[in-house]
Amino acid sequence: MKILVTGGAGFIGSNFVRYVLRVRQDIDIVNYDLLTYAGNLRNVEAVSGDPRYRFVRGDIAEKAQVEKLFEEYSFDAVVNFAAETHVDRSILDSSPFVRANVAGTVCLLEEARKRKVSKYVQISTDEVYGSLGPTGAFREDTPLDPSSPYSASKAAADFLVLSYHRTHGFPALITRCSNNYGPNQFPEKLIPVLIQNALEDRPLPIYGDGMNVREWIFADEHSRAILMALERGNPGEVYNVGSGHEKTNIDVVRELLRIMGKPESLIKFVKDRPGHDRRYAIDCSKIRREWNWSSEVDFSTGLAETVAWYKANQNWIQEIRDSSYLNYYERMYTNRDQTLSDLKA
Ligand code: NAD
Ligand code: DAU
Repeated sequence: MKILVTGGAGFIGSNFVRYVLRVRQDIDIVNYDLLTYAGNLRNVEAVSGDPRYRFVRGDIAEKAQVEKLFEEYSFDAVVNFAAETHVDRSILDSSPFVRANVAGTVCLLEEARKRKVSKYVQISTDEVYGSLGPTGAFREDTPLDPSSPYSASKAAADFLVLSYHRTHGFPALITRCSNNYGPNQFPEKLIPVLIQNALEDRPLPIYGDGMNVREWIFADEHSRAILMALERGNPGEVYNVGSGHEKTNIDVVRELLRIMGKPESLIKFVKDRPGHDRRYAIDCSKIRREWNWSSEVDFSTGLAETVAWYKANQNWIQEIRDSSYLNYYERMYTNRDQTLSDLKA
């Protein structure tokens, strides 16, 4: 089977590429990625010499490039990871999110439909469901109620995917997973920001009161569920993926400081994210029942492994700092320092 993986140079996409090539001999992968600030070929360095793997640089939202890609390779299936993914950036400027996440998805769907691809998996997110109160969990039939421009763009893409199934009978399905963590996550998301700042004895920024809840899943487990979706998922269906490890952000930062042997005095409460969703929790009984999938990595073990990876891969961080994306990375810290001063004033 030959599959197109889009966004395979990012955090979860690269994990999926490495995972599939490790566990399966009968799958060839073409990794199509624009290499935005979040894409990094280092993430797929380990498989770059594998004869079952090819990398093609390109944009999912560029029709001519996507047509050429499908012309060159005959894909049996598509797994679409490619997206703009950071909520804070979507608050600063939503247009790249609409382009990549909505227009990009349509472009892929259209070409995959024309070429009669036999399975299309859209990698979506639990954020499309919006925010929960203190109890309950998102089910696959929970109405979509996105809060941020990021999650709104992902929800729009989900509706388009489902419309291609209903209208054209196109064999597309959707996975919606909770917060991932693990090696190779770009250092703008909570866990890598905290690890890197703790390593440098810099303040650990926690938005608002730190009581927002996320359900944390080790990225390898997400990859395992996506491969099942590809092979066993039914067209037109949605599949939730989650770990059951619900944590407040303050619990996450405390656990991390314990693992790293750093003091809690490094924690700094900063201005809240606008429209900050309070709580996510996922009911993934459907994939447990249908695929016998379950989460096996407990949070402390996964977190310790993640800390060890960042410690051992400071050159990966340094390359990001040295790259042209340095401006954003540094500006982010500056903004946070300013926020801190604002709060102190
Ligand atoms: P990431 O930001 O680390 O990687 C995104 C990748 O997509 C990058 O390699 C980037 O270069 C590529 N890309 C962006 N725009 C592109 C375009 N127009 N054409 C081609 N490539 C493009 O993201 P991630 O955290 O690995 O997330 C991957 C997918 O999983 C996304 O669709 C995201 O919505 C979804 N998701 C993420 C999480 C999470 O916790 N990180 C949870 C659930 C779902
Ligand atoms: O739930 C799945 C989603 O998880 C994915 O769809 C997104 O692509 C991914 O970015 C992630 O979104 P979040 O907004 O939940 O992740 P982030 O790491 O940005 O933030 C996690 C929590 O930590 C959230 O409550 C905001 C908070 N936070 C974040 C950062 C970056 C802080 O308190 N301080 C920070 O510096």
